[in-house]
Amino acid sequence: MIQLSPGTVLYVFTAKDGREVILRTPKWEDIDDALEFINSLVEEDAMILMNTKKTREHEIDWLADNLKKLEKGKMIMIAAEVDGRLVGIVEVRPHFGKMSHVGSLGISVKKGYRDIGIGVDLMKEAEKHAIHMRLKTMQLEVFEKNERAVHVYEKMGYKVTGRIPEGVLQNDEYMDVLIMTRKLPSS
Ligand SMILES: CC(C)(COP(=O)(O)OP(=O)(O)OC[C@H]1O[C@@H](n2cnc3c(N)ncnc32)[C@H](O)[C@@H]1OP(=O)(O)O)[C@@H](O)C(=O)NCCC(=O)NCCS
Repeated sequence: MIQLSPGTVLYVFTAKDGREVILRTPKWEDIDDALEFINSLVEEDAMILMNTKKTREHEIDWLADNLKKLEKGKMIMIAAEVDGRLVGIVEVRPHFGKMSHVGSLGISVKKGYRDIGIGVDLMKEAEKHAIHMRLKTMQLEVFEKNERAVHVYEKMGYKVTGRIPEGVLQNDEYMDVLIMTRKLPSS
């Protein structure tokens, strides 16, 4: 398994709007940005599972747990940084036991930083590490009406391979949840 230490710079690129984006592993110093980021997603009612704001204590536990797993090579977590602020995160968590070759992916980019290519590049970087980790298949779940996310996943080669009818309730409306998967090339 590959191990990534906190704060390691992985890739730097120029976004479609000209801003410099640094893709790196998260670090302790991200704690306040990470809290603000997740709570901003809850506040805008983004199409993610989380529907209540997090406390700083919860976020500390989340970051501590994930940094530990990152250092042990048990998960992939990559942050996007613009102008010194955390504006995006992708995570890949391998399943366990007989499904440990399948990685579950989650991604979000902050409002104000979307549609400039950060999501696609975060996914490409995550996939590179997933291949090194010898994962064979990537899996994710997305709300059916999350058109931007579905577009990005299809662009990355994911196909709809399952569906949970009325799997999510948002604003008193049930929506299907799509399960999308992609077979990874071998390392
Ligand atoms: C989904 C998300 C991760 C994508 O990240 P991003 O940085 O905006 O993605 P990119 O800029 O790389 O690509 C966005 C693409 O969507 C396209 N797009 C934007 N709005 C769209 C829409 N309503 N329908 C279809 N495509 C759309 C853009 O044109 C662009 O496509 P292109 O590169 O082919 O031109 C990000 O928008 C996000 O975090 N959204 C809120 C939280 C969320 O939904 N997370 C995913 C949960 S499954």
